[in-house]
Amino acid sequence: MGSRIIGVGMYAPPKILANDDLEKMVDTNDEWIMTRTGIRERHIAGPGVATSDLCLEASLKALSDAGISPSELDIVLVGTCTPDMPVPSTACFLQKKLGAGRAFATDLNSACSGFLYSLSVADALIRAGRGKKALVVGAEILSSITNYKDRGTCILFGDGAGAAVLTDCEDGAGVLSCHLHSDGNLWELIHAPGGGTLHPMDPATGNERTNYLHMAGNETFKHAVTKMAEVCVEALEKNGAKIAEVDLFIPHQANQRIISAVGKRLGIPENRVFVNLERYGNTSAASIPIALAEAKEKGRLKSGDLVLLAAFGAGLTWGSALLRM
Ligand code: COA
Repeated sequence: MGSRIIGVGMYAPPKILANDDLEKMVDTNDEWIMTRTGIRERHIAGPGVATSDLCLEASLKALSDAGISPSELDIVLVGTCTPDMPVPSTACFLQKKLGAGRAFATDLNSACSGFLYSLSVADALIRAGRGKKALVVGAEILSSITNYKDRGTCILFGDGAGAAVLTDCEDGAGVLSCHLHSDGNLWELIHAPGGGTLHPMDPATGNERTNYLHMAGNETFKHAVTKMAEVCVEALEKNGAKIAEVDLFIPHQANQRIISAVGKRLGIPENRVFVNLERYGNTSAASIPIALAEAKEKGRLKSGDLVLLAAFGAGLTWGSALLRM
């Protein structure tokens, strides 16, 4: 028994923050941002919008694409590092909003690897017979933890959600394998310290906000390239596949230069690498499922295609998955 994706969907809030807008907020310019990152604009959620609201929109599209109703779901997993609240999980809010009463629901916080981690867990649960139908969502409101006075980070991040519906299937089709890795020794490279047990948020003290994302950009860049390339090779080797057989490579959309460097290491032509970060920026856990949904809409996920996914994020965490569509 294995699992396969039968529906995908995505949602990005309507408000757009373009490079021109950022020029008015910090000392930066469109040319610098485009050259260094490949990002032109990102979507930003308005006040009062919760991560589970983005999840809901993306999930309804994925369920409709799959042709199943929320009541048929056994499992709801949300990959996010920007939950609605510390407690309960965003997945439980999503379950309520969907009316997916039969499903068990929880979150996974693996930052930008959140969708791949969730996909891997859902696949393993289905293989173990713990359910037949799973909704796997990656969603973030990164604008809620972005410091719009820090030009090194605020140009990168955007908000959005993507979702995939998985169903059980014969082994050897669908999700062929998933590969996950972490290295907590390198946690400091990307972190948002406030709001947890170490640095609780206490507005009453009037303290400066401490839950902003901090990132050592250069160092992160190097690890992202090495680890994503390595974990892609691991997925190919596990399945006895060659990079030339991969019809579409969907990497985490963090930076065009990271994507190009990983593609070059793997030796995959640019026309088989899916890139949409120019319009969304880095949406963390949402980036791969948003890309999956757009790829399907553009007719780039054909039946029988071999699709390679790879992610990298805070933790550090990284992973890959090889899919037969
Ligand atoms: N606009 C203009 N100049 C900027 C800038 C901005 N938005 N941000 C930084 N700079 C400046 C720096 O201050 C520095 O100036 P200096 O040389 O006078 O000190 C110069 O540009 C180079 O900075 P540096 O940090 O070395 O640039 P970079 O080429 O590494 O690009 C990132 C910065 C953040 C774009 C890049 O490191 C990156 O993308 N890293 C990975 C980030 C990522 O994807 N993280 C998530 C992984 S999941």
